[in-house]
Amino acid sequence: MPIERTFAIIKPDAVAAGNAGQILAMIETAGFKILAMRKHQLSRAEAEGFYAVHKGKGFFAELVDFMTEGPVVLLALERENAIAKWREVMGATNPDKAEAGTVRKLYGTNIGRNASHGSDAPETAAFELSWFFRGSEMI
Ligand code: CMP
Repeated sequence: MPIERTFAIIKPDAVAAGNAGQILAMIETAGFKILAMRKHQLSRAEAEGFYAVHKGKGFFAELVDFMTEGPVVLLALERENAIAKWREVMGATNPDKAEAGTVRKLYGTNIGRNASHGSDAPETAAFELSWFFRGSEMI
């Protein structure tokens, strides 16, 4: 399995609830190296650009409102098979459908307020990492 990078967000609901530390512990326990990490308040332009692929969908405005309601934690992660592994640790997008013990089952509320984000493919990971981090910051 190749060493791979992925991009993660601990979303505003999880940060506000004080769950960021527990989620970071899950990330490290799962064998990820944290290459870069930043607490950040997204602007609407940043959130709209980041989620541009969802523009036009019914939930887009709700998604942007939620992602800008409070600070998030942005992460660049690395390990073997990082993209699939982080998606496994997060669980299904809808916390109701997520496996027990996953981030979204433990800390998510519903499909919109679902505690965390992860890239879904190598091209998306490259785009998402570059949206928030310079290459020299990922160490
Ligand atoms: P995320 O992995 O960040 O990628 C896109 C996000 O859109 C997703 O998590 C959900 O939080 C959100 N989303 C997807 N589908 C819906 C939906 N039907 N209603 C509200 N939010 C959604």
